[in-house]
This record gives sequence, structure tokens and C-alpha cells, in this order.
Amino acid sequence: MNESRVKGKNIGIIGIGNIGRSLLQGLLAAAISRLSGGIFISDIKRENLSAFEADRASNVVVCAANREVAENADVIILAVKPPEVNMVLEEIASVMNSEKILISVAAGVPTAVIERYLGGGKKVIRVMPNLGARVGESVTAICTGEYAGEEDEAIAKEIFHAIGAVYRVKERDIDIITGLSGSGIAFFAMMIDALADGGVYEGLPHDVALEIAARTALGAAKMILAGDTPSLIKQMTASPGGTTMRGLYAMEAKGVTAAVMEAVIEATKRAREISQHRT
Ligand SMILES: NC(=O)c1ccc[n+]([C@@H]2O[C@H](COP(=O)([O-])OP(=O)(O)OC[C@H]3O[C@@H](n4cnc5c(N)ncnc54)[C@H](OP(=O)(O)O)[C@@H]3O)[C@@H](O)[C@H]2O)c1
Repeated sequence: MNESRVKGKNIGIIGIGNIGRSLLQGLLAAAISRLSGGIFISDIKRENLSAFEADRASNVVVCAANREVAENADVIILAVKPPEVNMVLEEIASVMNSEKILISVAAGVPTAVIERYLGGGKKVIRVMPNLGARVGESVTAICTGEYAGEEDEAIAKEIFHAIGAVYRVKERDIDIITGLSGSGIAFFAMMIDALADGGVYEGLPHDVALEIAARTALGAAKMILAGDTPSLIKQMTASPGGTTMRGLYAMEAKGVTAAVMEAVIEATKRAREISQHRT
């Protein structure tokens, strides 16, 4: 096994909401938290921190201010909503030196904007995870700013591996990833819900239908990741004159493919609008 790059490093997370909390829980569950020095956390909402304050066995240090996180951590993960990013950057800029790495999860905030706020050649990495992080199944896209090097990227990848898969992309593609997987997980939730509703419409209890629909989606996803193409799955399921072909015809008659593509295209467009606004 390769030596951990996170070993002995202090990690900071500012914003313990949906993503920040998932990341923290992922790190605590993975060996990485035992390797890292301490995990320093802050959030404007104190109640988001209380669960971690009580856990004396972990190496989590609850901080009273964002600045304290940035002072103590070698790698600072910024997990607040995009409109709050500037304010937090202003708070921590004076304690950020050129050795520290700032990893931003904020949608639509370019690395160049963060670098400008921090000033003077600071290491910035941008990531786009998704809510699958809650169960260790995030898809995280990662890109680096002007001053972050390969070693910094490797550190960020190791951290985000704790909550799922990591893919390196060009920064211009981050907005597409925001639509495809950042928002895409909600599109899937809706599709699974719709599949279950079909079963409920035909008489199945809702809990049974929902679990079966979710497991069906999981099966399809695992097959595709194992190398079966979507068209092969279709071909293997749809026998001539059978039930699947009737269902597929009904789906296409309603334009499901175009509607799902449109969801990703529109979400990407919105991510680009937000990015443009911030440049
Ligand atoms: N949720 C997703 O699926 C997802 C996916 C990919 C990327 N992201 C990105 O991840 C970031 C966080 O999203 P989220 O869904 O985790 O948001 P969230 O649940 O609202 O979490 C953000 C947390 O930061 C706190 N906060 C607000 N201002 C702060 C400040 N000045 N200092 C410290 N903490 C502050 C918030 O408190 P309050 O609630 O009191 O404001 C909240 O607890 C966003 O930039 C988003 O674009 C989210």
C-alpha cells in the first residue's frame, strides 16, 4: 500500500452541513482520520457541531471561529454555500500561507476567484462531490487552481476517496459535473421514486416498491460499472413482444430520454450562470 500523504496533516472543514458533515463522517469512518493529525471544524450554526463536541475519542477539534480552523489546519475544506464563500475567505485570508491547501466544494465558484480573494499564489483546489457522500458513494470531480501542484492534488484525492470515487477533470468541465452528478443524484432519486410509484399504482405497498425500485437502479448501475453497456442490458431484458419492450415504448412515447438529457443540460446551464456571475 502507498504511504498516506495525509499522515500527520491537520485537516479543517468549514461548514458542517450536508456535504461537510458527510465528509467528516466519511473521514472518521476511514483509516485516514487515524492518520491525520487533527480534524478542525467550524460552523456558524453551533448545533451542527455539538455531536462532534461530545465525542472525546475522536481527533475532531471543534473551533469557535473559521479563522481558528484555517490557523490550525494544513488542508482547509470550504463547505459553505456559494453566497457565503467570499465572507469566509475574507475571514481566513490573513492566516492562509502558501503551504496550506484550500479545497472548495462550492458550486460555481472558480479557483481564480478564490485565489484572488486569498491573494499571493495560494494553493486552491476545487471539487464537486455529491450527496452520495452520506453513504460513502460520492462521485467527486477535482481540478486544481494555478498554484496547487501534483502533491496537493494527491492529498485532496486521498481525502475525497474517503467518501467515494474521485475523477480529475478540467475546470471548465466542473459545471457539467455539477449538472451530471452534483444535481444528477436528485434526478435519480426522482426516477426511482417514479418507478416505485408505478408499482404502487399497480397495487404494491409503497415501502416494498421503493426498496425494489432502488435495488433495481443499484443493479443496473453495478452492471454498467462492471462493463455491461446500457444497450446490452436493454437487449438482454427486452424479449420480442414482451413486457420490457412495451414499457420502453411507453417511456419513449413520453420523451423520457430527452427529458433526462434536458435536466442535465439545464442544470449545467445554471451552474455556468452562477460561475459567470462570480468571475
Ligand atoms: N448539497 C449537495 O448536494 C452539494 C453537492 C455538491 C456540492 N455542494 C456544495 O457544497 C457546499 C455546501 O453545501 P451543503 O448542501 O452542504 O450546504 P449546507 O447544508 O447549507 O451546509 C453549509 C453549512 O455551513 C454553515 N455556514 C453558513 N455560513 C457560514 C459561515 N460564514 N461560517 C461557517 N459556517 C457557515 C451553514 O449554516 P446555516 O445553515 O446556518 O447557513 C451550514 O451548516 C455548497 O457550496 C454547495 O455548492 C453541495
